[in-house]
Amino acid sequence: MSIPHVKGPLPGPKGSKLIAEWQKYEADVTGFQAPVVWDSAKGCVVTDVDGNTYIDWTSGVLVTNVGHCHPHLVKAVQDASARLLNNYECPNVERIAAAKRLVKALPPHLDKCFFLSTGSEATEGASRLMKRRTGNYEIISFEGGFHGRTASAASMGGMAKPKHHYGPTIPGMIRVPFPNPYRDDYGWCKGAPQFKRYFDYLEYMLMANSTGNLAGLIVEPYQGAAGFIFPPEGWLKRLEEWVHAKGLLFTLDEVQSSYGRTGRMWAMEHEDLKPDIVTIGKGIGSGVAVSAIAATADVFSCLQKGEMSSTLGGNPVASAAVCAVLDIMEGEDLVANSATIGAYMKARLKAIARKSKHLGDVRGMGLVLGLEFVKDKKTKEPAPQLIKKVIVECANRGLLVGSVGMFGNVIRVAPPLVITRPEADASLDIMEEVVLALTL
Ligand SMILES: Cc1ncc(COP(=O)(O)O)c(C=O)c1O
Repeated sequence: MSIPHVKGPLPGPKGSKLIAEWQKYEADVTGFQAPVVWDSAKGCVVTDVDGNTYIDWTSGVLVTNVGHCHPHLVKAVQDASARLLNNYECPNVERIAAAKRLVKALPPHLDKCFFLSTGSEATEGASRLMKRRTGNYEIISFEGGFHGRTASAASMGGMAKPKHHYGPTIPGMIRVPFPNPYRDDYGWCKGAPQFKRYFDYLEYMLMANSTGNLAGLIVEPYQGAAGFIFPPEGWLKRLEEWVHAKGLLFTLDEVQSSYGRTGRMWAMEHEDLKPDIVTIGKGIGSGVAVSAIAATADVFSCLQKGEMSSTLGGNPVASAAVCAVLDIMEGEDLVANSATIGAYMKARLKAIARKSKHLGDVRGMGLVLGLEFVKDKKTKEPAPQLIKKVIVECANRGLLVGSVGMFGNVIRVAPPLVITRPEADASLDIMEEVVLALTL
């Protein structure tokens, strides 16, 4: 049987029953996904409860970078869980090994880390750290930014859904524009490497909004939830210089962009950034719940004992996963595969866009590519109404994709980094057929 292989309409008979049962008992509050009940997955291939197989372009949500259920990761987690599941703040063998491995895998200036469980917990922790280290409370963040759904994370973010209808956000968050090369109405992307217009406006924003108590800034290397928006080359470096010239702390949110996703181990490597704090999640455990904050020892030195802690942070199972994922990343050269296959997929997707009336932009690097759908390529009016069609039609043919975007009109191309050339071709053939058949 070929992969992918989908027989009959979705969901299949077992899938239909299970979805009905799920909706009866668990609140139906997640985003729209293809009607597929996942049963198992290996590498880049997902099998559903009806035996259908799919190539996965979601990696969960950019999580399973080393491939679904990599045997080395599975064994490490099984072995660790048979010995010790949790011991709270006490050191354990795996935690110590994971901290050492993570620090060694980071750029050398980041010489300390701390383990938590989710990305939101890491960005919350980073906001506390920025405030605590400086004694100030204002944080600059970005329109379209996403740092999670907890209170501080949602307040730092600039997406509607985590905030709308939840009352006032935490005071002291100053949200500023993020340059978007595809929709550069205000010219923020112009004038590299100084980006004078943009940074003049940033100064103006501070003049108008800051009370003079700035602690730091948090930014994603590319905006994930807002639609895989990559800023113009050189802008992040200029931003870092601007932040440091003001004596503020620079936090890079690499929860989604790290572990080879952009074709480098860390997205900060592309422009040789030297953030004071980095938040890490998703790929670090490749499916096991673990996140981390990395920072300089100097930044961490502001915290007293007991100031940062978490019930499950640094547990032996998650820590074993951290080590196993790094073994796989290094042993299988997944960063290089991300760069090579990513470039190949981007070129083929750009060729599809040239033939399509509605695929307005193909962007990204490595294996994080965004497909932005518009009603008309000239006006660039967003076409969110096409997204459900793309998700469902792709799933019907054996390709799993998800969506993001400030306007809900971007499809994520983010397969596990183990994707092979034949898997890339088979999945691109499906996307091409679906995109070229789209009508409004
Ligand atoms: C850049 C970024 N930061 C933080 C988060 C929040 O992570 P989590 O959902 O694990 O809390 C996400 C999740 O998508 C993210 O993409």
